[in-house]
Amino acid sequence: TSWVMHCTERTFVAIKPDGVHRALIGRTIARLEDKGYSLVALKLLKPSRTLAESHYESLRSKPFFDNLVSFITSGPVCAMVWEGKDVVAQVRKLIGNTDPLSSAPGTIRGDFGIDIGRNIIHGSDNISNAEREIQLWFHSEELVEWNPNLHE
Ligand code: PPS
Repeated sequence: TSWVMHCTERTFVAIKPDGVHRALIGRTIARLEDKGYSLVALKLLKPSRTLAESHYESLRSKPFFDNLVSFITSGPVCAMVWEGKDVVAQVRKLIGNTDPLSSAPGTIRGDFGIDIGRNIIHGSDNISNAEREIQLWFHSEELVEWNPNLHE
């Protein structure tokens, strides 16, 4: 029966090339683990232009689109899927605001960044985008099942 209780909200998180180069992978993972979330997929990759453009397709008309795509494809990205109660909204809170002047101390961007473009990390902004982004970056076989009975 605890399988039925098992919460399956998932979100896509990516540590961007600046975060990888600044050695923030471990500390970022620690914050999400400390909050209570479970890592269900993880890989390091240099995304293709096609992948980056699909990921950011809703921003195609923005003036910063080309910069954003060039930046995200410039180096390794740590792509992850995290799972747990309200994970989509909670991860956005832990990441902090896009605008560096509004990202509060205590958030990842508030603690580690000052630049709107080089902002360390991406998290899906809503549940349907989370599903879309997870499918875009991962094959379903790459996601693991956590059996809550085995690690309480
Ligand atoms: S918007 O304009 O409301 O869609 O902006 P926002 O939701 O805050 O950001 C969407 C993603 O675009 C990135 N972004 C930028 N990149 C480079 N330069 C500028 N000026 C800029 N403004 C916003 C922002 O970091 C978001 O990317 P992700 O990867 O989702 O954080």
